Amino acid sequence: MSQRDSGYERKERDSYETPAWVTEIIVKYITGNRCVWEPAAGNGKMAEVLRRHGMEVSATDITTGDDFLSAQALRNSYITAIVTNPPYALAQEFIEHALRLTEPACGVVAMLLRTDFDHARTRRHLFGDCRQFWAKVVLTKRIKWFQHSKGQPSFNHAWFLWSWAHDRVPMLAYEP
Ligand SMILES: C[S@@+](CC[C@H](N)C(=O)[O-])C[C@H]1O[C@@H](n2cnc3c(N)ncnc32)[C@H](O)[C@@H]1O
Repeated sequence: MSQRDSGYERKERDSYETPAWVTEIIVKYITGNRCVWEPAAGNGKMAEVLRRHGMEVSATDITTGDDFLSAQALRNSYITAIVTNPPYALAQEFIEHALRLTEPACGVVAMLLRTDFDHARTRRHLFGDCRQFWAKVVLTKRIKWFQHSKGQPSFNHAWFLWSWAHDRVPMLAYEP
């Protein structure tokens, strides 16, 4: 996810770490999933929080040789959910690919994105026209991506969830 914040350069491959409170929010929405894949794990910050909540997490990243977009299937047969904060420039491809990979497992996809990511008409196939689109969890607090940043964060974010077991109107929630 690409972020701008006062006085900081854009990071290579959008390798921003998600603060723990943001990951804590998604936990209750994915509790039915014991085995999770975090496919853009970076330093493993998000995976660490999910593990703390008892999930078994397979954490991979392109920097350690695992290009998610080249994956042909879920990493093991126990995984039922893909959860990540994708690189902003590849977010759409990540969602599309995660949906393809989780379909055989009737699984779940959770992605942390800018809150207006679902506005684009070109993405209707992932939202308004997508029966698997299950929930948008709006973060009512802005994410501070850089601990020592002096300015206020400029963007709002939300968790977006898809489930192959879902076939209803999507839910809207506000957290924390
Ligand atoms: C926004 S960071 C998220 C880090 C971590 N998920 C977190 O929330 O703390 C995006 C990560 O995606 C990784 N990445 C970029 N392209 C990738 C790809 N094609 N496959 C797997 N990981 C990729 C980057 O190396 C970076 O670590």
